[in-house]
Amino acid sequence: MATKTENKIIVAIDGYSSSGKSTMARDLASRVGYRYIDSGAMYRAVALYALEHDMISADGSVDETALIGDLDKIRIDFELQADGTQHTTLNGVDVEREIRQLRVSSVVSPVATIVAVRHRLVALQQSMGESRGIVMDGRDIGTTVFPDAELKIFVDASPQTRAQRRFTELVEKGAQVSYADVLANVVHRDEVDRTRAESPLRKANDAIAIDNSHMTREEQSAWLLEQFNRVISRKK
Ligand code: CDP
Repeated sequence: MATKTENKIIVAIDGYSSSGKSTMARDLASRVGYRYIDSGAMYRAVALYALEHDMISADGSVDETALIGDLDKIRIDFELQADGTQHTTLNGVDVEREIRQLRVSSVVSPVATIVAVRHRLVALQQSMGESRGIVMDGRDIGTTVFPDAELKIFVDASPQTRAQRRFTELVEKGAQVSYADVLANVVHRDEVDRTRAESPLRKANDAIAIDNSHMTREEQSAWLLEQFNRVISRKK
């Protein structure tokens, strides 16, 4: 007889920066009772560690040797909050707000090109998915972290739509940013993520592509739930 775990699947959601992946992933996880993991938050936490330890120079270059030397000292976790959301912690400190700031967004993609950083975080992400029942979003989840995920989605939207969404989100949180800076960051991160040597951002062959430029949050969540139910019904 199949156990509960065997019936649970892995949902991998990849796509471009600020494409609404996290919102879709979070909505699905809460609807179906799965755990949601934001893999980007893990790269952001490593980038914050590098910033806090002066490992990033003014021109944006990363002291890779120092950062790799410190990888054993970097502990990243997710802490469940009373309201059901999860906060990222870095060595026991809640860094959820800080990792979303533009100063972290500006340096995270070069940090995420470092092979040793990726290997460390991919191993951690794979261990989080051991008992399945997980929705994880990122750039390489369907290609590298969980190539055997039962449901893979690749999300895209125009750079302007994505920048507008991120700009609104940051302003709502009280950040002092300009739309132009946010758009420049989105376009730059797309380029770095797409062209890096180690697990670059690309759609897995078996991923379902969706452009959500003209979809509301409700529409995209309903669409994803439909995809999920289709896979689950085939498993029964
Ligand atoms: O939320 P947003 O789309 O702005 O980005 P994120 O998911 O928080 O990821 C931040 C950065 O981490 C990305 O631009 C990538 O450079 C990197 N990342 C990655 O390389 N691989 C992942 N699985 C997730 C994020």
